Amino acid sequence: MKEYTDNQVRFYDLCLPFEEDIPFYRQLLGQQYKSVLEMGAGTGRIALPLAQSGYEVIALDKSKAMLEKALLKKSQLAPNFQKHLTLVQGDMVSFTIDPKPDAILIPANTFMLLKTLQAQKLCLQNVYHNLPQNGRLVLDIFNPHDFLKQAFLEDRMVLVSSLPHPQGTFIVNHWVSGKYDPANQIVLTHNIMETCDQDGNVRKYPYTEILRYLYRFEMELLLQLQGFEVEKIYGWYDFSPYDTKSKKMIFIAKKA
Ligand SMILES: C[S@@+](CC[C@H](N)C(=O)[O-])C[C@H]1O[C@@H](n2cnc3c(N)ncnc32)[C@H](O)[C@@H]1O
Repeated sequence: MKEYTDNQVRFYDLCLPFEEDIPFYRQLLGQQYKSVLEMGAGTGRIALPLAQSGYEVIALDKSKAMLEKALLKKSQLAPNFQKHLTLVQGDMVSFTIDPKPDAILIPANTFMLLKTLQAQKLCLQNVYHNLPQNGRLVLDIFNPHDFLKQAFLEDRMVLVSSLPHPQGTFIVNHWVSGKYDPANQIVLTHNIMETCDQDGNVRKYPYTEILRYLYRFEMELLLQLQGFEVEKIYGWYDFSPYDTKSKKMIFIAKKA
């Protein structure tokens, strides 16, 4: 995988000010799953609140720059929460953890950043080897039937969000245009983060993202081939079951 670029890292938390999945993970882990490995934990958007809830969290990411952001946020937590969070640089395709965590999370479409079927298979094999027999994998990817209908995939620039910058008087606009290639199940998006200050000075920070998307039975089969049994597929973070209109496919899997 290509490393996250400076522009992606700089605006990540602004692009994804999303929190709806955090109560979902808390409820799912409950009292039963105390130790958690988050693959592709990024800036700690999910890892930090889970550590604050008392879970022992290992936040793994390939990107040093994303982990540096997570480290800064960790340093702002109270010391009794900081001790629950370990940040590790590593690749979800090859990483080994000992002792094995009770649960492994791959949230927020991160699995689709693995661009080949081979890399996706290796990642699941790796999850399998790092999970105990009664552990759980939670893998959250978008539902292509929903995602591929978005206006920005019709080859035009769409303003997907416009937010005040938290550290100043800037407005940050997030523009996206993209296309998808059904034969290879690839979505390519061109993103422009555009800042505009009080004097009207505009700066643009572009980056490109590529995702290899999967359909429901493809994902299920991939999990089964790597030795997992799919227990549930949710369609959103409210635990509603997956159907064609769901925005998400959230797979809960255990070792068969
Ligand atoms: C969409 S972000 C998700 C971050 C975080 N999980 C969240 O929900 O906010 C994807 C993250 O996965 C990381 N990543 C991509 N490929 C990876 C790999 N092979 N191994 C580990 N991390 C990876 C990226 O560096 C990035 O931080």
